[in-house]
Amino acid sequence: MGILDKHKIIEKNATLLLVLSFLVVSIGGLVQIVPLFYLENTIEDVEGMRPYSPLELAGRNVYVREGCYLCHSQMIRPLRDEVERYGHYSLAAESQYDYPFQWGSKRTGPDLARVGGRYSDEWHVDHLRNPRDVVPESIMPSYRWLEKTVIDGQYIEDVMKANAAFGRSPYTDEMFANAQDDFKAQADLDADWDGLLSRYPKAQTRNFDGQAKLTEADALIAYLQMLGTLVDFSTFEPAASR
Ligand code: HEC
Repeated sequence: MGILDKHKIIEKNATLLLVLSFLVVSIGGLVQIVPLFYLENTIEDVEGMRPYSPLELAGRNVYVREGCYLCHSQMIRPLRDEVERYGHYSLAAESQYDYPFQWGSKRTGPDLARVGGRYSDEWHVDHLRNPRDVVPESIMPSYRWLEKTVIDGQYIEDVMKANAAFGRSPYTDEMFANAQDDFKAQADLDADWDGLLSRYPKAQTRNFDGQAKLTEADALIAYLQMLGTLVDFSTFEPAASR
């Protein structure tokens, strides 16, 4: 019997075809999945990465709530044109504390993974109030209520605990205990920032929206200004080349 005739037997027997197809797909799946269980870690630890400060986390929540991810990705792919436009390609570790991650699949606007430090706080305030004031051709919607919505971080400890409940539990008891104080301190020019900075190195401390009141614009701008700034890429080396 030739090989084609043997194959005919399988093709004519639906059950046999199904069983054998299942077998083939299972083996293929296992070959892909099993090695992952033998890696010590699928995310390499990268120096500089830390969980979000309470104010940054609140800003991230505004970002998620307003659906910014529908128009903005936060993942720079390792392709030359992207790296030249946006900077170093994104590392897995850079979104290790993101629940849910904000990689996105749509770029109506630019990628924001490294937008931190690219513009001044004033630019962000103007841009969020009315994007066309700073970029005349922009089609981004206005978020003018953010600078008018006062926040006090009343629930921020719960938000941190909810984030910590997802696996990698980045927050310490000390961080929980100081959650609301740190939340208020980050944008308060009269605050003592030592504790905040020891818990969240490189946290940027200043009045982000220029108003006396602490608002959602402060939180969102604190978040935008830290995006992509934690890892020092002048000294970073991927694990594979170390
Ligand atoms: C309908 C799509 C859309 C949505 C939703 C949207 N944006 Fe944009 N965004 C754009 C476009 C288009 C640009 C480019 C023009 C501009 O700068 O306004 C942009 C630009 C930006 C920039 C400047 C990026 C750069 O590198 O120049 C930032 C920062 C930004 N958006 C933040 C946000 C935030 C924060 C939200 C949610 C509160 C948001 N965007 C929601 C479309 C959108």
